[in-house]
Amino acid sequence: MINVTKTYLPNKEKYKKYIDEIYENGWLTNNGPLVQRLEKRLAEYLGVKNIVLVSNGTVALEIAYRTLDLEGFVITTPFSFVATTSSLVTNDLLPIFADIDENTLNLNPKNIEKSITPNTSAILPVHVFGNACEVEEIKQIANKYNLKVIYDAAHAFDVKYKNQSVLNYGDISTLSFHATKLFHSIEGGALIINDDKLVEKARYLINFGIKNQEEIPHLGTNAKMNEFEAAMGLCVLDDIEEIKQKRKVVLAFYRQELKGLVKFQEQNENATENYSYFPIVFKSEEQLLVVQKALNNVQIFPRRYFYPSLDTLSYIEPKQVMPISRDISKRILCLPIYAELEPNMQDKIIEIVKKAL
Ligand SMILES: Cc1ncc(COP(=O)(O)O)c(C=O)c1O
Repeated sequence: MINVTKTYLPNKEKYKKYIDEIYENGWLTNNGPLVQRLEKRLAEYLGVKNIVLVSNGTVALEIAYRTLDLEGFVITTPFSFVATTSSLVTNDLLPIFADIDENTLNLNPKNIEKSITPNTSAILPVHVFGNACEVEEIKQIANKYNLKVIYDAAHAFDVKYKNQSVLNYGDISTLSFHATKLFHSIEGGALIINDDKLVEKARYLINFGIKNQEEIPHLGTNAKMNEFEAAMGLCVLDDIEEIKQKRKVVLAFYRQELKGLVKFQEQNENATENYSYFPIVFKSEEQLLVVQKALNNVQIFPRRYFYPSLDTLSYIEPKQVMPISRDISKRILCLPIYAELEPNMQDKIIEIVKKAL
């Protein structure tokens, strides 16, 4: 069976050495030495100042909202994974959708301004499939209206915009290190915080709001990464360049073979790619369903990602309709891409897609 992605498993002996270390020092969680080591290495590798590791990408978003004391309405994209929106709702924030650009698939900055009201406190764009947003235009709007910006950068590990990490844009960027991601720590996530003064607060928030044995200044939660996850992260980080290189080859071959048959996501020309997804947009949902069925028949499972459009979620009030996102979400499919995707399997996938079209 071939799925849309396959978790990268690093060398087992190397992972075991870290496990031995954990057993020797008996420190399993609560900002242990491996979490600290991973934070340091990631900050260097990504080129960011402050990174706080957490237990997953959803909680990273929640901690970001609380670190910035967001209230009221947050302008966001309807074309994302459900956690982008649901994390707002569970924190008593109202998602106000602004529609996407049909080519880049990211929140269209042109649609942001008309959605701003006196109740708006922030903008929450997503670098969809690792494609960098129009960060400079978004920054200008945020400055003009005094709004915070949080980037859901779950897909944007190691993406550079004009030669520096795209994670340095916005007040906070969040990452997901889920097992299906380009870089992973089994489960995990991170906050990249630009204002040094907010780092300490975020660290309290991930540890129940506790500052020290006497003081609990914030309403916190438990969002800590543990040592076994950090150990996996350290192993995967050693191999990340090789993983990226292999994915790059897979992606280039898909593009070469499917060019002109389906539509590709338009990449931000000022940014690098990280080869984490290969989305294709069909002419119609019918065409997508034909291709999906043909692949499923031979046990290949691409993913309808993101589907459905988040403005259709039943728990969002007031109801909002985002026509571009709804249209794209019905016609988009992510084909299998991962470092170990064998060339003959990729040939097979391409052949089936071509035949079905
Ligand atoms: C865009 C986006 N945001 C947030 C998340 C949530 O991350 P996690 O699964 O680590 O909680 C994901 C996860 O797939 C995602 O794709």
